[in-house]
Amino acid sequence: MKFIKLLLLLFVIQIQAQQGGMWIPSLLKGMNENEMKTLGMKLTAEQIYSVNKSSLKDAVPQFDGGCTAEVISDKGLILTNHHCGYDNIQSHSTVEHDYLTDGFWAYKMEDELPNKGVVVSFVVRIEDVTTKVLEGVATLTSEAEKQKKIQENISNLNKILPKEVWQENSIRTFYDGNQYILFVTETFKDIRLVGAPPSSIGKFGSDTDNWVWPRHTGDFSLFRIYADKNNRPAEYSTENVPYKPKHFFPISAKGVKENDFTMVMGYPGRTQEYLPSYAVEQIVNDLNPAKIEVRDAALKVQDGFMRKDNAIKIQYASKYAGIANYWKKWIGETKGLKKSNAVAIKQKFEKDFQEKVIKAGKQAEYGNLLADFQKNYTEINDYALARDLFSEIALRNTELLSVGYKLYQLEQILTNKGEQAFWDRKNNLINGLGDFYKDFSATVDEKVFEQLIGIYSKKYPKQFLPSNLENVDAKTLATNVYATSKLVSYDKIKELLTGETKAVLEKMNNDPGFQVVKMLADSFTKNVAPKYDEINLKNIATQRTYMKGILELSPKSARIFPDANSTLRVTYGKVKGYKPNDAVVYEPITYLDGVIEKYIPGDYEFDVPKKLIDLYNAKDFGKYADKNGKMPVAFIATNHTTGGNSGSPALDANGNLIGLNFDRVWEGTMSDIYYSPEICRNIMVDARYILFVIDKYAGAKNIINELKIIYPAEKKIISKKK
Ligand code: ARG
Ligand code: GLU
Repeated sequence: MKFIKLLLLLFVIQIQAQQGGMWIPSLLKGMNENEMKTLGMKLTAEQIYSVNKSSLKDAVPQFDGGCTAEVISDKGLILTNHHCGYDNIQSHSTVEHDYLTDGFWAYKMEDELPNKGVVVSFVVRIEDVTTKVLEGVATLTSEAEKQKKIQENISNLNKILPKEVWQENSIRTFYDGNQYILFVTETFKDIRLVGAPPSSIGKFGSDTDNWVWPRHTGDFSLFRIYADKNNRPAEYSTENVPYKPKHFFPISAKGVKENDFTMVMGYPGRTQEYLPSYAVEQIVNDLNPAKIEVRDAALKVQDGFMRKDNAIKIQYASKYAGIANYWKKWIGETKGLKKSNAVAIKQKFEKDFQEKVIKAGKQAEYGNLLADFQKNYTEINDYALARDLFSEIALRNTELLSVGYKLYQLEQILTNKGEQAFWDRKNNLINGLGDFYKDFSATVDEKVFEQLIGIYSKKYPKQFLPSNLENVDAKTLATNVYATSKLVSYDKIKELLTGETKAVLEKMNNDPGFQVVKMLADSFTKNVAPKYDEINLKNIATQRTYMKGILELSPKSARIFPDANSTLRVTYGKVKGYKPNDAVVYEPITYLDGVIEKYIPGDYEFDVPKKLIDLYNAKDFGKYADKNGKMPVAFIATNHTTGGNSGSPALDANGNLIGLNFDRVWEGTMSDIYYSPEICRNIMVDARYILFVIDKYAGAKNIINELKIIYPAEKKIISKKK
């Protein structure tokens, strides 16, 4: 009996260990450290995060705001995703040197390319400052006053808390306003491009394979951090020298197998794991379907033109990929939430919560929360739907309307901030819009407008719909707007914006394109936004108290991690396959064989460079093949990641680099709202594939020589005695 209990306990630990979670690196002691060791980790919490000694966190900077990178040499070499470095690779490309198509490799340091505006930011220190942030807040009664006081405290503390002159303070909220943590950071500004594979490796599979397993993408690029002579951040200068990191990751070429321990460090952007069931229901039934419908229509129009016209394809490829990325994610998320019964699971959690509240005698503080949620989410439903439709249709996917909205804001600036501000913004706009119109096709956008205004008039909640758009003939409106509006080309909009303030305003307001924007924006700002903000503020307050209750009433052993907020986190799990559907089983590792299987000569998504095919045919994999002589490409594991974790290091039990995170599996993208250990997996490029591409494909021995690579021990051939 005892033995069975022990077995059961071990089983529970194993299962629990895969429940997801994104943990604060300075708080791993105790629960996480033990669990990580149970899973196979050989490091201590102190080796991952330490204030005084160098630790793993010193090798994991945030890359340019939205991605993660890791330091892999003592000369400041960093690795991130190809899709994170994409804009920089593109900006160095010309017709003569097309680095997106052909790849780029600096064979000596002098050849590395500087990137204006790109920054890389390290965490120096993490400190709880909750008491300081909440000083003087408890006595305030209204939620708006509380928020204001908190913001004041934060901006004051950012100024006065101790730091070196070249560092920054930044205070972030955790657990929905129940905890505040200070991050002292160091931001480097001289970041140079060192290497990138051709897109046919770095973006292999493109949109078709995006969010999909099995995957065969070598999604990596290399940069180097430069610092001043004192190893401190500095603007670009030829005097700068390679940064000497406090820590860099050795790279393991030993490979991974199913059930190996993995850990991912990085800067996950946003999750909502503690939403009440009412909010999840709304996402599944109303909000995601509406956003998907809008993008679906826009993508179909763009795709139709891109297939027929190569010039349009070049103009729209990147925009299309941007729209498609979250369109596809929301579809996967919605399916996953349904399939995993996330709403029912949340309801069960809420029932348990209510019982705990009663048992603890805390009805006064927590007894009404769920009823409040129910009331507020019901009340906000139409406002939230209108907000998402307005934002997807006017601000995001109809380009003419999104430009028109900039003019709408310009008009507001005149009213609110006066003539000088108006002129400054107007000049900025004129300068900035050139790039936009370079990739704008009025023919494509007219069709998008027609489709999306059609959806708007049908799906926008009737009580907020401007009367001119009731039963509108979207086609006629589109034809008229695109034939007469000045927003359809750079020359025309410049002309519109030229002249005296009064004349510009008059021209704007007479423009049929601007009139549509103004109708939508006015209706939104007058009829939707104020009430939405009012109810949303209530939800924020309720969520904070709910989170407090969850933290207070859960047992010590409960694994309650704070939602992602773009701060440094640690997540861990195991290399593991999964079952996406009945009778289908996915293995956890892909190989170069799969690249060749997917190869479509000349295709923009599935072409393969000749050199890679040659290396494959010759089985010329250098020291990087696995023990069966196969070249691994990517693998999946149970690490809980989200957007922002792109480029994150995947580490083994000893803290060596085994891969580079770049995506999640489609069936598991609901992990931003509900993590299911059954189907949530993160996708990583295998470190061996990265080394193979740098070494054998690019012949960049200079880069290989800079790295600390741990090779598998040579097999000793022991002659057997007869
Ligand atoms: N889905 C990945 C991430 O959100 C990769 C996106 C870039 N790749 C692409 N094919 N669009 O963001
Ligand atoms: N591709 C995502 C990024 O750019 C990471 C994938 C995810 O959302 O998990 O951050």
